[in-house]
Amino acid sequence: MILPGLIDAHVHLRAPGGEHKEDFRSGTRAALAGGFTTVLAMPNTRPPLVSVDAFRIAQKLANSQSLCDVFLYAGASADHIDELPRLANRAVALKIYMDDTYGPLKVRGLGTLERIFASWPENKLICLHAEEESVAVGVALAAVTRKNVHFCHISRREEIEMIAFAKSEGLPVTCEVTPHHLFLTYEDGQRLGPYGDMRPRLQTQDDVDALWEHINTTIDIISSDHAPHTREEKGPWPHFNEQTLWDNLEYEQYNITASTAFSYDRFWRPVAEDVKQSEPPEYTLHRSTPPGVPGLESTLPLMLTAAAQKRLTYERLVELLCANPRRIFNLPEQHDTWVEVDEKLSYTFPLHPLQTKCGWSPFEGMRLIGAVQSVTLRGRKVVKDGLVLEQPESDIN
Ligand code: NCD
Ligand code: ZN
Ligand code: ZN
Ligand code: ZN
Repeated sequence: MILPGLIDAHVHLRAPGGEHKEDFRSGTRAALAGGFTTVLAMPNTRPPLVSVDAFRIAQKLANSQSLCDVFLYAGASADHIDELPRLANRAVALKIYMDDTYGPLKVRGLGTLERIFASWPENKLICLHAEEESVAVGVALAAVTRKNVHFCHISRREEIEMIAFAKSEGLPVTCEVTPHHLFLTYEDGQRLGPYGDMRPRLQTQDDVDALWEHINTTIDIISSDHAPHTREEKGPWPHFNEQTLWDNLEYEQYNITASTAFSYDRFWRPVAEDVKQSEPPEYTLHRSTPPGVPGLESTLPLMLTAAAQKRLTYERLVELLCANPRRIFNLPEQHDTWVEVDEKLSYTFPLHPLQTKCGWSPFEGMRLIGAVQSVTLRGRKVVKDGLVLEQPESDIN
């Protein structure tokens, strides 16, 4: 099956300042291996992309190292609001962090938020890391300012339902959801330990069900939130080198809506029970490890698996991974660009060695259906037989 070059609207490529986790070269290599020919890179770098100077440095690195198209977000910071108009000329969109996550960027206070909104031009998107009540604040800001607001990685039932309501009221809001919030629950998070810890956290089965209920309506974009951290930073993963339980399952038995029952006991129950006796697990589990999981190489295979299971159509998959992000972020077309997938191939993930520098995936060992075979970017074959080529080959049909 031939797909267009896909767009990942939410990745962390870590440069500058976090190159031991990822850089523009390794991150775009992972993107291509995963079927993405365009990625939008987040501003929570070191330094964060809240000033024109920092943005220029990152842009230079991106231009010289990237193997696919990369667009950079600007970050909002209370101390640099004056830079926003100039950043708006360069950045693909603005990112505001309203809740705790990895990195120094967090904006508090309605007044500050209103000033940031006022300093950002109407024709470019404002993207929010907003959880729980912050989603309501974001909806209200869209209503008051009439600026386009995009909600990143929505994970909870109440959040997606509030956004559905905002849309039905005609407010200029859009949203994205990640595969990890569609395929994993809190219980998988306990099995995976720090390797299943990210912001927003993994939620309940009811939240997962709610996201799937909105897959053909409220959800505009699937993005990976590719957020690599090294194994050193994440700490030991007891079963990392063992076969995980995913691959003991026959595909037919693998029911995503009950994905966790089989996995919990074997590895994490002893730990989790310890934890339950003291404080709520979510607060105890990963206090000292950075949140975030890689996703560039698992996103398309997971969504192809969902399509093979008829949880969405292949047409909808292309809307969520290409047409909608292109429209919402106003991205240019890429000519002579396509991705060839084998949508029937059944295998244990990952099919090929991971290209992300962090070298692990929370989906390792999972039985998936559908894999990237080749990627052609502007007439040059950059992925062949699933492997990123060192020397692209001419491939004009
Ligand atoms: C992201 C990161 O590591 O940069 N972490 C995460 O858990 N998602 C930050 C973010 O997207 O909130
Ligand atoms: Zn976030
Ligand atoms: Zn843990
Ligand atoms: Zn992110």
